[in-house]
Amino acid sequence: MVSYLNNNYFTICLVLVLCLGCKDKAEPKEAENTSKEKPELVMYQPSEMATLMNAMYAYNLQLKQQIVNGEEPMTMPLDLMRLHSAEMSNGHARTATWNSFVNVFIESQQSVVDTLSNVQLKERYNSAINNCLACHKTECTGPIPKIKKLLIQ
Ligand code: HEC
Repeated sequence: MVSYLNNNYFTICLVLVLCLGCKDKAEPKEAENTSKEKPELVMYQPSEMATLMNAMYAYNLQLKQQIVNGEEPMTMPLDLMRLHSAEMSNGHARTATWNSFVNVFIESQQSVVDTLSNVQLKERYNSAINNCLACHKTECTGPIPKIKKLLIQ
């Protein structure tokens, strides 16, 4: 009886050791595979619209830096007309609300680099960001905290 129990205990220990051993050895291999087969394994494919939005975010982050440094930005390299055509991810569509915000936004984003404007640069910039937020309040609430950080206080 005693030897049976001991045997069992030994077996459990052996199994545990083997499993842990497996895990330790398997992990680096898995990591290797992930990096090699990344395009297949990564399920999240940003939509055209998401990619454009991220470019708009990056552009405005750069504008903010320039304005805070006292520089006057003069170029708007983004093709904002793609807001009218870019494919959107599941669950998003050009709703009536979207349509009511998109042109106002495009205009305000373009006015940031309008060097002839009488409106103060910081005000023009913040109004573009507030137009991001206006659309996001109904169309895509997730990135709102991130977009709010673009505002110049
Ligand atoms: C007219 C409406 C509208 C305006 C204006 C707008 N957005 Fe968006 N935004 C959306 C919608 C809808 C999505 C979701 C798109 C998708 O997933 O296909 C989105 C997605 C995003 C995302 C997430 C992208 C991702 O990786 O999933 C970010 C970040 C973002 N917007 C930032 C901005 C910034 C910054 C501005 C202003 C410079 C802005 N948006 C202006 C509607 C808008």
